Amino acid sequence: MPRRILIIVGHPDSNPKRLCRALAEAYADGARSAGHEVRLIDIATLDFPILRTMAEFADRPLPITLEDAAQALKDAEHLVFVFPLWLGTMPALLKAFLEQVMRPGVAFAYPEAGKSGFAKTLLKGRSARVVVTMGMPASFYRFWYLGHGIAGLRRNILNFVGISPVRETLFGMVEGASEVKRRKWISAMHALGKKAG
Ligand SMILES: Cc1cc2nc3c(=O)[nH]c(=O)nc-3n(C[C@H](O)[C@H](O)[C@H](O)COP(=O)(O)O)c2cc1C
Repeated sequence: MPRRILIIVGHPDSNPKRLCRALAEAYADGARSAGHEVRLIDIATLDFPILRTMAEFADRPLPITLEDAAQALKDAEHLVFVFPLWLGTMPALLKAFLEQVMRPGVAFAYPEAGKSGFAKTLLKGRSARVVVTMGMPASFYRFWYLGHGIAGLRRNILNFVGISPVRETLFGMVEGASEVKRRKWISAMHALGKKAG
């Protein structure tokens, strides 16, 4: 079954040579070759302000420059986030993007006035894959750091708005990796894209 896939490249550096971009493109190529519908949003190309107040989050409209991204989020059936590990978690620009788009009305709805209870998830039924590159060995990040930064994205953000399951692919020791290794990672991403996984 063809799926609607949204790939979000969360690398603040727009340099096309970043590994994250090659991985995202490989996933997109694989997915398109298997007949899936793919949209790619590169947050390095978006111009948006940092969200600063609860009032903006809850009551103000999205910045115009993010309306398209919010719609793409709602339209997608499967989301793929690709970003480098920076200080143990996602880069601040990706977090700033998520603070803007994962808002009431887009990602979840608060309980009605006067009623208690949990927020209603608006992005239920979607799955996701989080793809992270890092300087340290991926096993070290998982077992020593317990993957905290990525667990935060998975549980506090994606699961919170109803996105499940969220799978992970970690690429470690990427700096100075050989061309052979890079090609192996790129073909692994192509294969994942083909099965929209
Ligand atoms: C500001 C910054 C912080 C970083 N923090 C970490 C870190 O906490 N752990 C780690 O393993 N690598 C860290 N790195 C290395 C990046 O993860 C690595 O450069 C990136 O994954 C390479 O992928 P790219 O070619 O797509 O940029 C950091 C790099 C930068 C620039």
